[in-house]
Amino acid sequence: MKTDKELYRQLRVLSCEKLWNDEVALFDRSTPKERIERVAVIRAVGTVFSEFGTAKQKAEVRSWLVRLLQDPSEKVRRYAMTALPKIGAGPVEEEVLLSLLRTTTVEREKKFLGQALDKIGGTATMNVVAGGHGFLQQTEQKVKASVARRERPSVIRMDSILSDFTRLRIHLRCRKGLEGIVRDEVKEYIAKHGKFRIVEVRSGLVTITLVAPFSLADIYTLRCFATVGFFLGTVRSSNPAESADALASVMTSPVSRSVLATFTEGSIRYRLEFVSKGHQRGAVRLLANRAYAMCPDILNDPRSAPWSMDLYPTGHGISVELRPKLTPDPRFTYREDDIRAASHPPLAACMARLAGRVNNEIVWDPFCGSGLELIERGLLGGVQSIYGTDLSPDAIAISRANFAAAKVKAVQSKFICCDFRDYAKVEGLEPKSVTLIITNPPMGRRIRVPNMRGLFGDLFAVAAEVLKPGGRLIFANPLRIEPVNPLLKLKYRNVIDLGGFNCRLEMYLKLAR
Ligand SMILES: C[S@@+](CC[C@H](N)C(=O)[O-])C[C@H]1O[C@@H](n2cnc3c(N)ncnc32)[C@H](O)[C@@H]1O
Repeated sequence: MKTDKELYRQLRVLSCEKLWNDEVALFDRSTPKERIERVAVIRAVGTVFSEFGTAKQKAEVRSWLVRLLQDPSEKVRRYAMTALPKIGAGPVEEEVLLSLLRTTTVEREKKFLGQALDKIGGTATMNVVAGGHGFLQQTEQKVKASVARRERPSVIRMDSILSDFTRLRIHLRCRKGLEGIVRDEVKEYIAKHGKFRIVEVRSGLVTITLVAPFSLADIYTLRCFATVGFFLGTVRSSNPAESADALASVMTSPVSRSVLATFTEGSIRYRLEFVSKGHQRGAVRLLANRAYAMCPDILNDPRSAPWSMDLYPTGHGISVELRPKLTPDPRFTYREDDIRAASHPPLAACMARLAGRVNNEIVWDPFCGSGLELIERGLLGGVQSIYGTDLSPDAIAISRANFAAAKVKAVQSKFICCDFRDYAKVEGLEPKSVTLIITNPPMGRRIRVPNMRGLFGDLFAVAAEVLKPGGRLIFANPLRIEPVNPLLKLKYRNVIDLGGFNCRLEMYLKLAR
């Protein structure tokens, strides 16, 4: 006799018609014992029809599953209630599940009913499960979140002012190696506007506190950090299950509530993220339930939640951070389109800041891709003209569109499809014509590059030719290769993490002689 899994694997590749006409018909004719043996038919029907079924077929499947909810076998009913949400159930099916929840005495069945209602439940479910315990508490929270999501979609309020800021620490996170550039940008902001104070700079992290009321829009005028998180606290245990109550009280602390209430419009929902630990379903459920018991206004909801509650392992425990999930990032909305090997936008912003704001700048990105470095440098100001070259015509079309969307003021731009070595074909690019070359070259990771050393050797040679004396070459260098031309003098080098591999961010100055 086949196991449920084997039978399921065999059935899930069948067409809707074959499943319905042969397997479902056979199942319906079967004895109670045979039904239990062929219960995988129900699971296969749920999977196959959810993917390939027409609206009419799904309606028929729904009625069949509802009938199976009356089956004398608990196993058959359990399979039916698990398949139901996949087919797209509504209030009618919700009511059937709820009446079963009221009558069943089987604990396992209650649990599976709770899980089905988690997915399809609405106000009727909320009324029944309110004040429940254990899995019903989880159902209550999930259903409340999905009703809230449907009725009151949430957004992050960028312009709200947080006045109760005294105990708040804000973590500006970035790729490792870029923290110096992030710090310098914050310093410049402080010199102009005050508001923040830098308290710590560590690899991949700049911590600031507040000295005045502030909004998220203030923070998002900074372009170099990757993510921003409100630090809520640390718990001295590395096991989230053992310290669930302590973690839940940090997650729902007065600081947390004040940040969430100030910056959320609509329902307050968050996704729980164990940073660098992968999925932790059990721990997520436990923490979410404890936090809900402490504060039922803050809902765990992995679907389109405006906030992420990030749990970071630290040397001595787990720290909790609240991160607004802003997609798209409001700083980079000019990205109308993308290429496969596009730069990380905050890295492009960091490279632009490394270049600094030099007046009458003539900028060239030999490998412009979607144009991020050129746009970020343009947005800093002082640029006279911009040139982008790339081998890919698609990339050229995208960089042109992105550049137009960025509305960089009064800058002439030219995007030309060519090999960077053929720069002289581009009107305006000639020896000693450029003050800044800024680029994130191909790294050979996502797209193979046949001769990397040759390409980087040529980049140095071309830069030595094209740059005016005093001009700079800024690029991410994945190789230990240096220019042979002594006119290019190294001014800056720092190892940075480019998302899983190390690279050197370098700046060379072109000497007059
Ligand atoms: C890492 S991507 C650049 C990403 C870019 N900074 C962005 O923001 O999207 C490298 C680009 O170099 C281009 N490329 C590769 N070899 C080239 C060559 N010999 N001349 C010009 N472009 C080249 C690729 O087509 C690719 O778009």
